[in-house]
Amino acid sequence: MKTEEYAVAERFDLIIIGGGPGGYVAAIRAAQLGQKIALVEKRATLGGTCLNVGCIPSKALLDSSEVFAQAKSHLSRHGVQVGEVKLDLGAMLVRKDKVVKGLTDGVTYLMKKNKIAVYAGTGKLAGAAKEGVFTVGVTGAKNETLEAAVVLLATGSEATQIPSLPFDGKNVVSSTEALCFDRVPNHLIVVGGGYIGLELGSVWARLGAKVSVVEFLPRILPLSDGEIAEALHKSLVKQGITFHLDTGVTGATVKGSQLVVTAKSKDKEVVFEGDKVLVAVGRRPFTAGLGLSEAGVTVDGKTGRVPVNVDFMTNVPGVYAIGDLIEGPMLAHKAEEDGVVFAERRAGIESHVHYDTVPSVIYTWPEVASVGPTEEQIKSSGREYKKGVFPFNASPRARCMDESEGFVKVLADAKTDRLLAVHIFGPRASDMIAEAVSVMEFGGSAEDIGRTCHAHPTLSEALKEAALAVDKRALHL
Ligand code: NAI
Repeated sequence: MKTEEYAVAERFDLIIIGGGPGGYVAAIRAAQLGQKIALVEKRATLGGTCLNVGCIPSKALLDSSEVFAQAKSHLSRHGVQVGEVKLDLGAMLVRKDKVVKGLTDGVTYLMKKNKIAVYAGTGKLAGAAKEGVFTVGVTGAKNETLEAAVVLLATGSEATQIPSLPFDGKNVVSSTEALCFDRVPNHLIVVGGGYIGLELGSVWARLGAKVSVVEFLPRILPLSDGEIAEALHKSLVKQGITFHLDTGVTGATVKGSQLVVTAKSKDKEVVFEGDKVLVAVGRRPFTAGLGLSEAGVTVDGKTGRVPVNVDFMTNVPGVYAIGDLIEGPMLAHKAEEDGVVFAERRAGIESHVHYDTVPSVIYTWPEVASVGPTEEQIKSSGREYKKGVFPFNASPRARCMDESEGFVKVLADAKTDRLLAVHIFGPRASDMIAEAVSVMEFGGSAEDIGRTCHAHPTLSEALKEAALAVDKRALHL
């Protein structure tokens, strides 16, 4: 980058590169704390992967496809008779795009409200700091040069490719393209039984596609609690999704409009024929073209992550990183917490992120929501623990909703009763997990949940009952 090509530099307190949930939230909090901020974003809209091509559009489609599935098979059980249920995929995709637009416009409004200067273009560090000031070049419709003593990198991550199965944007796709297929695939082959594979596999299966999930390991969701993953696996099989575990993809060839995917399962060759392949085998930090090596910022060669200290500072004083770029789960809400704490610690506020209490959610139906270690992890740590389980089929509200599949599992320290983890597989698990997170934040016990009055009839009573079950005193089991 030749900085002389750029207009006269504007000076800020902080330049943030990346306008996703990590970057834009850091910008808001830093602005609240009185900083003058520039936010650089190369996408046409703010909100990053999450709002544009990740969490939000996928949840919009998950909600719409769930409504479709309910209308087809569930409403009659409530005594609601509807005529022939037809899919209008075009309208469903338009609604999804409207949801995304409303929310990305909302972020633009928040930037204006907080007087954050947004620069459209690709940001790049122009080498090391000179007299404590970094220069960031912005290449876009207008080329601009910004200066600040502090630069925050919040560029997120990108989908990992399998070398033998490269993305072609049409037939072999990442989650981005799988959010806008213009027709329901006949056979969608999903490579990877993780978060994205199971969520988007659910969407297209509900809309009528045959869906086959090919997973390298002997189980789905390798990082989740085993009992919960097994329950979800069984449920998705009942919903019509086929799983091929212990199966690694070796390549694919296009035969007209069909794809032939080859894989190996226990030394046996397996062949899948389908019209779309979604590759969802993880994500990698996005650091290309940021000028990190020129600025001397270290990147871990193996993981691609940027090592940072407790203040989120990289090895180069003045350059910071948050979110998917650094260690930890690649989750929007974790990136937001990083962003807030980064801004506060720079302002001298002693805040920090409690990584042990970052919840995770898989938005299948039923949903999976967890906080804390898996039961396997607790067991292998040698810590003695007690376990309470309560099934949703004993929950009055779940029965009223006709959504009684799943259970809540509470794990507490055997001696102190301190809450160690909660894993939920069930309806609206995503909303229920917040209570467990709060109790863990306060260092609370299973008894604290068990002694808390929960409104009746609500799904949250299942968490209370599971907490009581830790001491074998559930009331409705
Ligand atoms: P993931 O890490 O959740 O799952 C990838 C799966 O692919 C693993 O089960 C792995 O064993 C399998 N795999 C790897 N290589 C393979 C191969 N060659 N053949 C077959 N299987 C293979 O990754 P995913 O689903 O791509 O999601 C990426 C990230 O996005 C996740 O880390 C997650 O944090 C985030 N995300 C979060 C969501 C949420 O919070 N609800 C939703 C979607 C994504």
